[in-house]
Amino acid sequence: MRGFVIFLVNGKRYEFGGSNVFVTLASFLRRQGLVGTKIVCNEGDCGACTVMCGKYDETHERFVYHTLDSCIAYLFQLDGCHVVTVEGLRGERLHPVQEALIRSRGAQCGYCTPGFVMSALQIFEDREELTERRIKNYLTGNLCRCTGYQAIIEGVAEVHGDEVPRLESLFPSLKMANDLGDAIQEPISIESDAGVFHAPQSLDHALDFLKRFDPSWICAGGTDIGVILNKTKKVSKNLLSLHLISGLAETSITDQFVEVGASVRISEFQKKIRGHLFELYKLLNIFGSPQIRNRATVAGNLANGSPIGDLIPPLMALESFIKVQAREGERKIRVDELYLGYKKLSMRVDELITQIVIPIPKEHTFLRFYKISRRRDLDISTVNGAFSIEEDGKVRIALGGVAPTVMRALKSEGIFEKQGICAESVKAVQRSIQDEIHPISDVRGEAKYKRGLIDQMVTKFYWDYRREREGVGISV
Ligand SMILES: Cc1cc2nc3c(=O)[nH]c(=O)nc-3n(C[C@H](O)[C@H](O)[C@H](O)COP(=O)(O)OP(=O)(O)OC[C@H]3O[C@@H](n4cnc5c(N)ncnc54)[C@H](O)[C@@H]3O)c2cc1C
Ligand code: FES
Ligand code: FES
Repeated sequence: MRGFVIFLVNGKRYEFGGSNVFVTLASFLRRQGLVGTKIVCNEGDCGACTVMCGKYDETHERFVYHTLDSCIAYLFQLDGCHVVTVEGLRGERLHPVQEALIRSRGAQCGYCTPGFVMSALQIFEDREELTERRIKNYLTGNLCRCTGYQAIIEGVAEVHGDEVPRLESLFPSLKMANDLGDAIQEPISIESDAGVFHAPQSLDHALDFLKRFDPSWICAGGTDIGVILNKTKKVSKNLLSLHLISGLAETSITDQFVEVGASVRISEFQKKIRGHLFELYKLLNIFGSPQIRNRATVAGNLANGSPIGDLIPPLMALESFIKVQAREGERKIRVDELYLGYKKLSMRVDELITQIVIPIPKEHTFLRFYKISRRRDLDISTVNGAFSIEEDGKVRIALGGVAPTVMRALKSEGIFEKQGICAESVKAVQRSIQDEIHPISDVRGEAKYKRGLIDQMVTKFYWDYRREREGVGISV
């Protein structure tokens, strides 16, 4: 057992225990003089604090790097990681991405620039072909308030990929792995005035923690917890991480199911499901930003239980269930039976999610998942919804943002099942769905507006359905 976390920053090793780990990575970096990393929103929304975080990949025997927002990542989450900041890129001259942004006049006040450089670097780390669309997608987590995005996009587009040194060549994996040492395999127990952080190696020990520390939080990606810690300080500082428990970071796919471990990040999950759950794959392109998807987990989205959680309607419509572990054993809970009220789950505090099981839809099942938000990228849903129509006529509709929890529209499903999908049944569903939903007015919109959005969503579903099934319709 160790009482500290170990990580590297630009190749330099750090070991911290006690209250020191309850500090965000962004604050830590700036205190170390690495002030290229900026803090603006402090809630994962602007990308000014973007850094690269590398983890050793056993299969490829090298460090694999992903961007993250360092303002919502706490030091206790960095165990075993190599963090690279914008300062770490500079050799004798500026990095090719930095030079390109200067040439294209892609920086004015320059406050956002280090964050853009790090996000653009991810494209080259992934060895992706440069297209305007791809550059835009990689940069959706970064905001610029003065330059305007076109100059930045043009700058990145001019970079020659073969001139960009891979992080592996700047920080050789073998050396980084040696510097981290074998201690990163040991479980962690940190108990301090600022909070408690445990990372056990077994589920039994994790369950012991939940019994001993109540209330407590399971820090998976920490993208919800990090914001709450930063903004409200209301979160319990008894934190449990499952990252050392083997098997929980795996996704397995059979003919019937996609089984996702509790520690699987949304970006990895998205890559794995492309050929099996394409509708869900597409929806995840507009889940948060690359920085958020690189940290957030499917389990965290379900357990957070937000009525506008984007994964909840699709997983309900696909009849998914979670595997929940307690001292007494394992049980399964269907996602549509998980929510009892606003952020109130049918799970006990001494239970945790180990896996999410998603049935692979049959060949002719018609699926559509919708997210409606005020802007397309990096925004939370105002309302969201999922429609599943099976070949035998079985219908499932799940809606978010219109009740205290994501809900099934059971009465409306019944109308489609009885009458089929046609112009008349759509009108009947549009009427019945208004009786089923109970939206409230809040910062995302007035109740009346949300009712209108759901009405439009049903119309869109209908035309999407007709276009695919009958090859007719208008583009909506
Ligand atoms: C900038 C930004 C953009 C975002 N965009 C979106 C978006 O587009 N769509 C969307 O739906 N959400 C969005 N979110 C919210 C958040 O990213 C997601 O809810 C995410 O899936 C949470 O996963 P996590 O692993 O980070 O959870 P964490 O923050 O680690 O945990 C969240 C909750 O889940 C619990 N938990 C975690 N793992 C388990 C487990 N194994 N068993 C039981 N309980 C567990 C924790 O105790 C905690 O209550 C965004 C957040 C930010 C900061
Ligand atoms: S400071 Fe805005 S995302 Fe971190
Ligand atoms: S250059 Fe000023 S915010 Fe982007």
